[in-house]
Amino acid sequence: MAQARLRGTTPGPSPPSLDPSASMACGSSSADTMRGAVLRAKAQKPEGKVLYPGQKYDLIVSSIPKPRCVAGKALVRVVAAGVNPVDCKLILPSWIQHAFGRDYCGVVEEITEETSAKRGIKVGDTVMGMSSGSCCEYIVADTETMTKVPDNMTPEQAAGMGVAYMTSYDAIFAGTTVGRPPVGENTRVLIIGGSGGTGLAALQLARRCACARLVATVCSGRNEQLVKQEGADVVFDYTKIDFAATPAEELKRIMTEEAVKQMGTEEKRPAPDDFRGEFDLVYDCVSSMEDHDYRPVANQLLAPGAGHYVAINAARPAFWMQGLLARATGLGSWVLPSREDLFLPAPNREKVDNMSKWFGEGKLRVNVDTVVDFQKAASDANANLNEAIDRQLSRRATGKVVIGNIGSPK
Ligand SMILES: NC(=O)c1ccc[n+]([C@@H]2O[C@H](COP(=O)([O-])OP(=O)(O)OC[C@H]3O[C@@H](n4cnc5c(N)ncnc54)[C@H](OP(=O)(O)O)[C@@H]3O)[C@@H](O)[C@H]2O)c1
Repeated sequence: MAQARLRGTTPGPSPPSLDPSASMACGSSSADTMRGAVLRAKAQKPEGKVLYPGQKYDLIVSSIPKPRCVAGKALVRVVAAGVNPVDCKLILPSWIQHAFGRDYCGVVEEITEETSAKRGIKVGDTVMGMSSGSCCEYIVADTETMTKVPDNMTPEQAAGMGVAYMTSYDAIFAGTTVGRPPVGENTRVLIIGGSGGTGLAALQLARRCACARLVATVCSGRNEQLVKQEGADVVFDYTKIDFAATPAEELKRIMTEEAVKQMGTEEKRPAPDDFRGEFDLVYDCVSSMEDHDYRPVANQLLAPGAGHYVAINAARPAFWMQGLLARATGLGSWVLPSREDLFLPAPNREKVDNMSKWFGEGKLRVNVDTVVDFQKAASDANANLNEAIDRQLSRRATGKVVIGNIGSPK
């Protein structure tokens, strides 16, 4: 079970009343309205350098319109909502996205008979998935990307499944248009940033679901125990190895020595004999425009003529453009550089149901880093949910930041 720390919310200034609904008590809802977490521009500019747009906003509870169920979808009463970096980086206008968030866990309240029969989901089922604007009391979510929550998951864990696990699923099982091979028992995988939301998901998927030959990761030494517990055979500590400045051949030598040191003595899983610091797949969960760029060094660590570099963010906008074009056209390897992939997750019924099965079997486990209490913020006009944004943007969360206690799980 995840060690979820229940954190209170930090009192903050009252949000400015930018829209008429904001003047209603933050705890109020009616037949047509509900409570939801929304971003409001901070009254005062934050101190210091602003790296992410989310730093300029308070996350408050406000009254927003309640959605109505439509065919093919289900009305879900949300219990908890997961937070992802994108929620704090890509701030959409409220007419596009009513509430904050993308990941959810909740209970189905309404679904048409036809959709229920087609999808095997019924009123009263506890479900999880991804749906834009998830951090509110009710969402109308696509049933094709929703799956049942197995009994061994808490609502907070289930709320952390969405973006992180669906993204890493496509990275590990090649669910994109590039045509690279999925991870299998002969694959040597390097996951850069194995201790974060997507990284931990990838470690578990590569080790326990794809049964990779070697699962290595780059993270800070303080998270070594956690990442080894979640599937890493070997850990490269970026506070000790300078990935950006070390020449490739030297880096490969250091990594080989480290793999033998960490795995060599273990009878169960010794370092593969042919491991020379080269990988069949490097999955990069760290590089971004705001800080690091592991892409150049990652490409030098690929097995010659066979390895692939897979990214979900990029330091250079041009690579992002190629990734988005690949997604829009379905042309994958025609648009992206050879042996490289950058993608957005494309969840579907098969993928989410596999997830539910693997969570139920205990192969996957969401590590909940922090839970911020929605009701506490809703009941106090001076409170907010900013802790969720701050923790997510700290880049130190080990696993998922979740906004919990939105509704009752029963
Ligand atoms: N394309 C997509 O659809 C998609 C989907 C999801 C996420 N993303 C992007 O992918 C990135 C990761 O997302 P996430 O949710 O996993 O983020 P996250 O949970 O915030 O990642 C935090 C982790 O990053 C690690 N980290 C920070 N600096 C590092 C460094 N220099 N080297 C290695 N590890 C480092 C930290 O490890 P230590 O504490 O051990 O340093 C921490 O555990 C974000 O940029 C996000 O925007 C894209």
